[in-house]
Amino acid sequence: MIFLDLGNQPFANSYQTKFSKTKERKYRLLIDYNIKNNLVSIKKRFSSQSIFNNNYPYRSSMSKTMRISFKQLAQKIKKTINPSRVLEIGCNDGSFLENFNNKNSIGIEPCKNIAKISKSKKINVIDEYWNFKLAKSILEKYGKFDLIYSANTITHIPNLNEVFKSIRTVLDEKGVLIIEDPSLLECINKNAYDHFYNEHFYVFSYLGLSNVLKKNKLKIYKVENIDVHGGSLRYYIVKENLKIKIQKSVNNQKKLELRKGLHKLSTYQKFAKKIQLSKKRLKKIFKKIKDKKEKIIGYGATAKSVTVLNYCKINSKIIDFFLDTTPEKQNKLMPGLKIPVKAYDKKHLKNIKFIFLGAWNFEKEIKVKEKKFIKSGGKFFTHIPFPRFIN
Ligand code: TYD
Repeated sequence: MIFLDLGNQPFANSYQTKFSKTKERKYRLLIDYNIKNNLVSIKKRFSSQSIFNNNYPYRSSMSKTMRISFKQLAQKIKKTINPSRVLEIGCNDGSFLENFNNKNSIGIEPCKNIAKISKSKKINVIDEYWNFKLAKSILEKYGKFDLIYSANTITHIPNLNEVFKSIRTVLDEKGVLIIEDPSLLECINKNAYDHFYNEHFYVFSYLGLSNVLKKNKLKIYKVENIDVHGGSLRYYIVKENLKIKIQKSVNNQKKLELRKGLHKLSTYQKFAKKIQLSKKRLKKIFKKIKDKKEKIIGYGATAKSVTVLNYCKINSKIIDFFLDTTPEKQNKLMPGLKIPVKAYDKKHLKNIKFIFLGAWNFEKEIKVKEKKFIKSGGKFFTHIPFPRFIN
């Protein structure tokens, strides 16, 4: 059942050049709640090839928070699981796998431009899409793995049954699968509707994911709430038949989600109403600043802000430009409303009083980095958890 309409949207990570001649592809961003399996997903389905190709601009190493999170997890895995062989699905630029011995690990990364960065770190990368055919060929060539990890990737693949069937194929009988993705509960608590865009086919709740896993003979034995990406869940999963203690965290997460009503359509309908209000309030903030004839810039040209800007119709007359550290995004235009993206340089903050924080999920890291801007009276503002000035 569709509960939210975020309007016409461009493809989130398809940054445009001033010279792009082809018409930008747009689609209607409708969000659906499936009462039968508790999954929340976008209505439209796009081929992986149309999104994850040689021009993919996202690099997970661009934030210190992510680099630290991957490193800490790797250390923890070595201590507690001590795997002999590691497979990562969606290894991006290698920020997780670089913490492991290259001889015993393999990364899957279909975006060839990003896979190249991982390869330059001497990581073994297979630059193909994760599917059953690939899993079978990996099994034949390399055998099974006792640790499979995937961060912010499974939700990007439409056919979940194939994803998990493929994982089962290469997961050792006693192996552990760890996946992490933004938490639907946190998304609702923070009114973070910008987790929805063409790449995120799903935003998982424990309730939804555990239903899909059950169907695929897998089970969750531990859940961790982590800070990254505005609040994510890290699930520890094993094969259904493996005897293992199911930790308290699993039931706790289930209870939290039931208490919030993530199994009821009415919860999503209420969420949608809050989003409409959020849009009105955010537009008001932009208007108030522009009425004073002040300049506004954006910080972090995120895929998430593409959803917000296009939903709220904030264009380059309102935000002069975005700053971003990712080379692949610089000197391009944000998809849809075509706000320019400039390479991050502190000089661009001179004479700026107002910054829309596109990368709100890195608020802590950015506040530390921009102490001087804040001290001199500069103001960041965001729509999370409601439209407001941060400092
Ligand atoms: P992120 O929130 O991970 O992603 P998404 O695109 O999935 O919504 O992206 C953060 C973006 O912000 C990324 O393009 C890098 C940029 N960034 C900066 O420019 N400066 C910073 O200090 C940080 C932390 C991020």
